[in-house]
Amino acid sequence: MPATITSIAHYFPPDVYTNEYFEQYLDTSDEWITERTGIKERRFLKEGATSDLIVPAAKLCLERRGMKPEDVDCIIVATVTPDHMFPATACVVQNKLGIPNAWGFDLSAACSGFLFALVTAAKIVESGGARNVLLCGADKMSAIVDFEDRAQAVLFGDGAGVALIEKSDDPNLGILDHILYIDGEGGKYLYQAAGGSAKPASIETVKNREHYIHQEGQAVFKAAVKGMADVSVEIMEKNNLTKDDIAYLVPHQANLRIITATAQRMGISMDKVMVNIDKYANTTAATIPSCLSQWWEAGKLKKGDNLILASFGAGFTWGAVYMKWSM
Ligand code: UT7
Repeated sequence: MPATITSIAHYFPPDVYTNEYFEQYLDTSDEWITERTGIKERRFLKEGATSDLIVPAAKLCLERRGMKPEDVDCIIVATVTPDHMFPATACVVQNKLGIPNAWGFDLSAACSGFLFALVTAAKIVESGGARNVLLCGADKMSAIVDFEDRAQAVLFGDGAGVALIEKSDDPNLGILDHILYIDGEGGKYLYQAAGGSAKPASIETVKNREHYIHQEGQAVFKAAVKGMADVSVEIMEKNNLTKDDIAYLVPHQANLRIITATAQRMGISMDKVMVNIDKYANTTAATIPSCLSQWWEAGKLKKGDNLILASFGAGFTWGAVYMKWSM
């Protein structure tokens, strides 16, 4: 049996920061941000860490499935903003939720984190390595964004999406195929320079602002447009899917122009594309699960819907998942 998503929930912190907020102190404008990215507002967590974004979403996800903490077998956290370098945020989440019998780990694949972790979780469940995986995609991007740099301050937000992965009851429903890639040549265009073993934290790294995101926007943009569109078309062709077969494209939310280009290449109209970048910006590992959760809550997802999940992010990392919705 394939693995599937049996419950889903999301959490965004309450504090809203509009484009006008940045106009007050940066040389930017609502017009530029809206036209170039599609973003109008985002949420930042004022106090707390990535695990504090995960916990409310995870509680709701388990509640929706009628599951208790003691029922959870495995926890995977996809993030580039872990609470600490170590221990893993999965351990922090396990402790905060009081889950007594689980194992787990963190997975680092930036904006593709949720997709890579979804495939990993599916394989663990399908092989019998666990009955279920509590799969968390979450990032507190405000912890690593340089708020003095207009080229990145406006792009990101904080949020979490949590899915429960279990074996499907139906062989035709669930996570049916995936195509995933990495290419380290792209690493030089999007990274956090210091804080790892290559460049441990020092007074110099702090002075040089090397603990913040470094992004060469145009280079990433070009690679993302090609990478996300190519892999989405590749998975459609591999599974003999036409544009009419697809209920929704669920793309990573980095830039509305990248999303639109992907939809165009797939031949699907924008009413079949999940978009929440306007309200929440780029929440990295949380974009795809939060979209799924919002669309499910709104009653727009039906059992049997064909979904293409697609992402592109730092690494470079990119890929697509084909699933038939089962809830
Ligand atoms: O999620 C992980 C993967 N990340 C992505 O997929 C992001 C990919 N990249 C992008 O989405 C876009 O490249 C950005 C949104 C980051 C930038 O958009 P762009 O159309 O590529 O703009 P640009 O970087 O070429 O900059 C154009 C101009 C520059 O000014 P000059 O040199 O033409 O005078 C920038 O300095 O826009 C300027 N600019 C801004 N102006 C007003 C950059 N940021 C801003 C800003 N407000 N916030």
